[in-house]
Amino acid sequence: MSIIADDNDFEKQQTVKKNPIVQANVEETDKTFENNIRPKTFNTYIGQSALKETLKITIQAAKKREKPLDHLLFYGPPGLGKTTLAGVIANEMCVPIKITSAPALERPRDIIGILMSLEEGEILFIDEIHRLNKVAEEILYPAMEDFYLDMTTGKSQTVKTLRVPLPKFTLIGATTKAGELSGPLRDRFGIIHRLEFYNEKELSEVIQRTAGILEIQIDEKGAAAIAKRSRGTPRIANRLIKRVSDFALVKYDGKVTEDIANQALDILKIDEFGLDTTDRNLLKLIIEKYDGGPVGIETIAAAIGEDARTLEDVCEPFLLQCGLLQRTPRGRKVSPQTYRHLGYKIKNQSEQQSLF
Ligand SMILES: Nc1ncnc2c1ncn2[C@@H]1O[C@H](COP(=O)(O)OP(=O)(O)O)[C@@H](O)[C@H]1O
Ligand SMILES: [Mg+2]
Repeated sequence: MSIIADDNDFEKQQTVKKNPIVQANVEETDKTFENNIRPKTFNTYIGQSALKETLKITIQAAKKREKPLDHLLFYGPPGLGKTTLAGVIANEMCVPIKITSAPALERPRDIIGILMSLEEGEILFIDEIHRLNKVAEEILYPAMEDFYLDMTTGKSQTVKTLRVPLPKFTLIGATTKAGELSGPLRDRFGIIHRLEFYNEKELSEVIQRTAGILEIQIDEKGAAAIAKRSRGTPRIANRLIKRVSDFALVKYDGKVTEDIANQALDILKIDEFGLDTTDRNLLKLIIEKYDGGPVGIETIAAAIGEDARTLEDVCEPFLLQCGLLQRTPRGRKVSPQTYRHLGYKIKNQSEQQSLF
């Protein structure tokens, strides 16, 4: 696997949390660790079973036809396995893969350079593909559709267009925001799939697999306790098992049990829903200052000192999924469950009604 460029999203790096353990965005320190524990085959890629079954058939068909795969788009919140899945597909197709991300393709020559370096059948993985600029997108259209590049040479009056053929490649795009992808680009993907949050059983498997690779001793209940607080996200599960194992080693004999996992997670201030301080601050703000909402995301972001986009991309998907937060045309609001979870009383009848 060659890594041409990587997720160098400066803005995201700037908004790293004070307590970022359970937020699913990638940090520099995660990368080597993540690459070491990434599953490489469908058998070791846990969960997402419906998606895996469809992909296996698509791959077999492509192999039988001796043609490259159709272009694929994966979308879903960070940390659910989009990049990993692209690697699995390359491995199962027995083709090389080049990995880059949209912010690294700022100038036309960046994308042209990559396209021209591809081999027949190779996979090009573009992360955060919703952030591609217009020029890059327009270079991609004919490349994706008919495998050629239109290159212009010369100046104004003597300008000539040169049609350069490209090898037949497969583009795999990944995005946390499918809604921000332009229509024409989305239309050029043959296959579009959403990745789902993982259930606790699947996360337990992820944790036990990672523990095996890292030679961490953990029992089933210990894995289940961590899985419960991992926000449906393998990236977070993997991060937590490391932290909990450190705790087990320093305070006990190194083995992770249910009790030790719970103690460690309490110290890390991760509650039984997997919420951290940032999540709780966000929800408490809506309850205490805005009577449960609705309130705009920009207002929330300013009040708790976070970047609105990070809140939307990283914090919110899980809060929405587990029903602690709701998105309405007038802004975000919390649910009765949020009041209960954070130990607040619902004040009066009219407030209760407005929450339902
Ligand atoms: N289905 C899975 N099975 C096992 N581990 C997974 C799975 N999906 C993701 N992971 C682990 O979670 C981490 C984050 O996955 P990644 O593919 O980088 O997420 P994304 O690209 O969606 O942000 C990886 O290190 C990988 O080891
Ligand atoms: Mg990724």
